[in-house]
Amino acid sequence: MAVDVSEVSNLDVEPGTLPETMAAWVIRQEREGEPKDAFQIEEIEVPEPGAFEVIVRVMAAGVNFNNVWAAFGKPVSVFGYGDHPEYGHHIGGSDGSGVVWKVGPGVTNWQPGDEVVIHCNQASYEDVEVHGLDPMAAPSQKIWGYETTWGSFAQFTKVQAQQLLPKPKNLSWVDSSAYGLTYFTAYRMLMDRCKVQAGHNVLIWGAAGGLGVFATQLCKAAGANAVGVVSSEEKGKLVKQLGAVDYIDRNEFAGMMRKGGESPDEEKERFKVSRAFAKQVKSILGDAPDIVFEHVGQATFPTSVFTVKPFGKVVICGATSGYTLDFDVRYLWMKQKEILGSHFANAYECMRANQLMAEGKIRPVLWKAMDFDGVPAAHQLMHENKHAGKITTMVGATSPEEGKHEEGPGAIWAEVGA
Ligand SMILES: NC(=O)c1ccc[n+]([C@@H]2O[C@H](COP(=O)([O-])OP(=O)(O)OC[C@H]3O[C@@H](n4cnc5c(N)ncnc54)[C@H](OP(=O)(O)O)[C@@H]3O)[C@@H](O)[C@H]2O)c1
Repeated sequence: MAVDVSEVSNLDVEPGTLPETMAAWVIRQEREGEPKDAFQIEEIEVPEPGAFEVIVRVMAAGVNFNNVWAAFGKPVSVFGYGDHPEYGHHIGGSDGSGVVWKVGPGVTNWQPGDEVVIHCNQASYEDVEVHGLDPMAAPSQKIWGYETTWGSFAQFTKVQAQQLLPKPKNLSWVDSSAYGLTYFTAYRMLMDRCKVQAGHNVLIWGAAGGLGVFATQLCKAAGANAVGVVSSEEKGKLVKQLGAVDYIDRNEFAGMMRKGGESPDEEKERFKVSRAFAKQVKSILGDAPDIVFEHVGQATFPTSVFTVKPFGKVVICGATSGYTLDFDVRYLWMKQKEILGSHFANAYECMRANQLMAEGKIRPVLWKAMDFDGVPAAHQLMHENKHAGKITTMVGATSPEEGKHEEGPGAIWAEVGA
């Protein structure tokens, strides 16, 4: 049966009852490639909730870089792990806002009709790490809607009850649908991994991107001084609006980017530009950064290690430009610098960060709210780096304002990009 995407906001069932099928954007292994082709709309059976699971009606679904990777099947195909072998499809989407529709056995904190935001970490209750170390350390740990199917690019999604957070009443469905993954990741990186303090200096790569817009706001909220790196003046203006001391246009330092395989002479030239960049950072912040916020990877990592202050921290959660990193390690050991890996966040961190959203101290930054049929195009725009802040797609919601119940500042809309 053909799926009518224009009808996704209409349901003929009440909370507590699931329809038999739903519309979903699906990636299948045989069509991995450009996002615009990899995602196709399909009619899929609605799953039942298992023990401690909840089915949420998706009102809006945020777009993240992880499903650009999923579309391409790179660096690894998602189909080899998680619950993908069981179902054979990938319904992506690791961010969303929605309404609890049906709860599974054992769920007591949530009821049909509750309005929620979903965080994307899953782990088994049976893993001991969940009960004393950190769910991010559990062998079963997975990112929902990337390493698992049943993500948010569908009318309904299946989640663990512990993934649910109350939707801030001052935010609409759209406002609250797209901050979770990047904001909670940035929160753990800065607050818990680096213990950012008032007066710290921070260098943020990609400061107008999904992670960067929240890292910049968190620094401002914590009383730290941030300088953001961006690739245009428009993005620079956004970053200053979010509270950065200033920005640097990386095009002015294009020669510092590590490509890999450079000759010793080329490497010498590259290093000269890194040195000039570090000088510029220092002149803006008054000192070298205590923290460098990294997710670009290969191209920027040698500059990050060089630029960070002695005893400073480079915290990294991604590698958009390549994951094989090399750098001159003398700058690390001689100056006793630290490199910290970080990955998403635990439920307690998500809850604390979500509270700051409810209080209006941190605001969502959105670039576009597209209709549900925009899911493939949204990922294509991300792949081509034509966006700023976040893109979201409306599923049950019919307007960007719907779902807001209290006065509050709402999202900042970025006027940047394609
Ligand atoms: N481990 C985790 O939990 C986790 C969580 C979230 C994201 N990530 C990863 O982190 C990365 C960034 O995610 P995001 O949501 O922030 O993506 P995003 O919205 O695309 O933002 C990334 C920014 O990085 C900058 N950038 C891209 N390529 C660059 C290059 N070659 N050199 C310098 N800057 C470059 C771009 O800014 P300018 O062009 O303005 O400089 C871009 O806006 C992705 O690889 C993602 O998969 C990991």
